[in-house]
Amino acid sequence: MSKLTDSETSRLHPETLALSYGFDPFLSEGAVKPPVFLTSTFAFHKAAEGKQFFAWAHGEGGPRSKYNMGLIYSRLNNPNLEIFEDRIALWEGMKDAYSFSSGMAAISTTLLATHRPGDEMIICAPVYGGTDGFAHHFLKEFGIIAHFIRAGVDAPAQAEKLINPRTRSIFVESPANPNNRLTDIGALKALALRHAPAPASGSSRILVIVDNTMAGPVFAHPAKVGADIVLYSATKFIGGHSDVVAGVALANDPAILSAIANHRAMLGGMPNPYTAWLLTRSLETLKIRAEKAQANAIKVADFLVAHPKVRKVNYLGLLKAGDPEHAIYLKQQSGPGSLISFYIRGGEKEAFAFLDSLKLFRLAVSLGSTESLAQHPAAMTHSGLTPEDKARGEITDDLIRLSIGIEHPDDLIWDLDQALAQV
Ligand SMILES: Cc1ncc(COP(=O)(O)O)c(C=O)c1O
Repeated sequence: MSKLTDSETSRLHPETLALSYGFDPFLSEGAVKPPVFLTSTFAFHKAAEGKQFFAWAHGEGGPRSKYNMGLIYSRLNNPNLEIFEDRIALWEGMKDAYSFSSGMAAISTTLLATHRPGDEMIICAPVYGGTDGFAHHFLKEFGIIAHFIRAGVDAPAQAEKLINPRTRSIFVESPANPNNRLTDIGALKALALRHAPAPASGSSRILVIVDNTMAGPVFAHPAKVGADIVLYSATKFIGGHSDVVAGVALANDPAILSAIANHRAMLGGMPNPYTAWLLTRSLETLKIRAEKAQANAIKVADFLVAHPKVRKVNYLGLLKAGDPEHAIYLKQQSGPGSLISFYIRGGEKEAFAFLDSLKLFRLAVSLGSTESLAQHPAAMTHSGLTPEDKARGEITDDLIRLSIGIEHPDDLIWDLDQALAQV
């Protein structure tokens, strides 16, 4: 077997490389799939080698790079984590990635690594309830103030009014969870650069941080339109089977990557090797899972829009040419994905009656899995939001979120139809 050259690798697609990139079978007895490296610590050939690895781990001799650092200890590095990180970075077209034990570990560690007391953030709401709570309660106690604005077309204009010399970041989920609002990431980046030009190397003082969990890595690549940091709950599309909790942070700037790596090592939020192995396994089917779920979601959204008991459907596939969000969609997304939210006619009583009547959809939080899921954001994932943030996110008692899976679309529509008939 011969090795791919770097230029050959750069011509290949992520879904091809997801099956082999970053793993040499002959370092593991010829195993075609990476073994799980269930070891907490790694042997050095010589004491001087251990000294050198530790120096790199401490950031001496230039910013730390995975390629100059040997294996030390599984809180710092481990082959399973690195194989997954190399493949997801390749998928995003970004320089490097760090994996975490959860999406919240990725988000909280990254925000702590990039903000200092006195810094301010601008957050485009709605964001996931955990992120919202972390900003409102934890970051505030560390002297980091978050200002919340409404996600969507006018978010850059709202952000502009709040930018000041203390602004360190603009944080956005695009599409936003759960109302699928799109925000123009390129416009946020232009705004950040206008107020804080980037130095010759490295990122602008104002970072654009995008949680791309809802779109997933198949249909949107935020760094290509200006994001400095891309975050994922890998529990969702990347893991994709509702059997793993994990997260990822990706960046291009070596100083940011180093800060994230150091904070992960200090706070200890890395995944275990088996979790990283599961994520690597799941990347092999990411594209076909995402495309099948999206094809189903397009049909489900068409069914819901036409149903008399449904007041309104939030789905990117329903955006019409001429809608300013459609223009953002064309710039940022290569497909509408498989997350739908809709407003049922009535309120919580009708929403709960519908949810309780579903037979195939699991009544459960989370998203991006092979099975279809349904939940009530106001009472569940977003129940901890302040009333103001709920209003910004259009999260009302009649809102239901669906994550569409890979079942037969007719069966999903049958289930939704019979459950709506019970309302
Ligand atoms: C958009 C988004 N970001 C982050 C998270 C947090 O991820 P985790 O549950 O893996 O910590 C979630 C969880 O639902 C989410 O939906």
